[in-house]
Amino acid sequence: MSPSTIDNASSCSPMNPLYNPAEDDKEASLRPRYLAEFQGQQRIKDNLLIFIKAARDRGEALDHLFLMGPPGLGKTTLALVVASEMGVDFKPTSAPAIEKPKDLAGILTSLRPGGVLFIDEIHRLKPSIEEMLYIAMEDFELDWIIGQGPAARTVRIPIPQFTLVGATTKAGMVSAPLSSRFGISLRFDYYSPQELASVIRRSSNILDIKINEDAIELLSGTSRGTPRIANRLLRRMRDFAQVRGEGIITRDITLDGLERLEVDYLGLERLDREILKTIILKYGGGPVGAETLAVSVSESIESLEDYYEPYLIQIGMLARTPRGRVATQTAYRHLGIERPNENGQFRF
Ligand SMILES: Nc1ncnc2c1ncn2[C@@H]1O[C@H](COP(=O)(O)OP(=O)(O)O)[C@@H](O)[C@H]1O
Ligand SMILES: [Mg+2]
Repeated sequence: MSPSTIDNASSCSPMNPLYNPAEDDKEASLRPRYLAEFQGQQRIKDNLLIFIKAARDRGEALDHLFLMGPPGLGKTTLALVVASEMGVDFKPTSAPAIEKPKDLAGILTSLRPGGVLFIDEIHRLKPSIEEMLYIAMEDFELDWIIGQGPAARTVRIPIPQFTLVGATTKAGMVSAPLSSRFGISLRFDYYSPQELASVIRRSSNILDIKINEDAIELLSGTSRGTPRIANRLLRRMRDFAQVRGEGIITRDITLDGLERLEVDYLGLERLDREILKTIILKYGGGPVGAETLAVSVSESIESLEDYYEPYLIQIGMLARTPRGRVATQTAYRHLGIERPNENGQFRF
């Protein structure tokens, strides 16, 4: 598969897990419910198992849990798994949905003892909500203001013990007072091809998809270390196998399918290559600021920073420097572009 040429970027890639919520409905059936079904991330699972057992044996709520990592690696899934393993309620919400103190108060007072409150995108909490959360997390109480003007006074309302699970793709944007109130912090790494192979095997069993071992191997190497993408590619390959093949996902079907989706052998999508080419051809290899880069490839800054960049950095194609983004030697090589000569000219 050859790298694509620079053309007009669409605003959303077919695989980008950030901005494709409709597809996520289909994920429900694939979401692991218990730790034993949760593939990979062994270190995280080993630790959690101990913390969960200890909390259960003491009859307490699990300590507050902070989950960090790129989209699609299983943060929401793990929050759900924790609630199932603890045998408690699961209440999911996201920071942008909690607009007013009364929204948070409503959620907290409706939790049953020991329940899990999951707040996604926790780096986006408003400061007033964050302060309210500090007291709730620490003292299991709510500061509530009664009345208005000079007659206003604050009362403390007790709430049931609960476990807050906070998830973020931007750990650096979470304030220190908030992050320090989580007793357990877990950072998700990209999955190895072997771990993704077991995700794909599990999903194809659940969905009753026939897939050859060599196709699994190929897909696990092109899924950007991300279970959500592995599942999406698997579903797309099932479509190709059904319409263009005999219903079985073979290596040839997969090679052809990936080419059609413009996913290359490293799992890079068209926009990944476009980002690298833009840095190299428009900005002389960098450094170029993230905002400028996002505008140049017609992508949102969130999508660039949360989804595209972390993987490009992980595989050594992109570097973040204080002055901006830089394409590495590996990126030049992958795109088949030589570094410019002393006259600043490129040879292809
Ligand atoms: N460890 C895992 N094992 C099996 N499937 C997983 C795992 N982690 C994630 N998935 C799959 O990937 C999908 C996306 O995971 P999700 O928890 O929504 O990611 P995040 O919240 O980090 O963006 C899930 O619906 C699930 O099907
Ligand atoms: Mg999530």
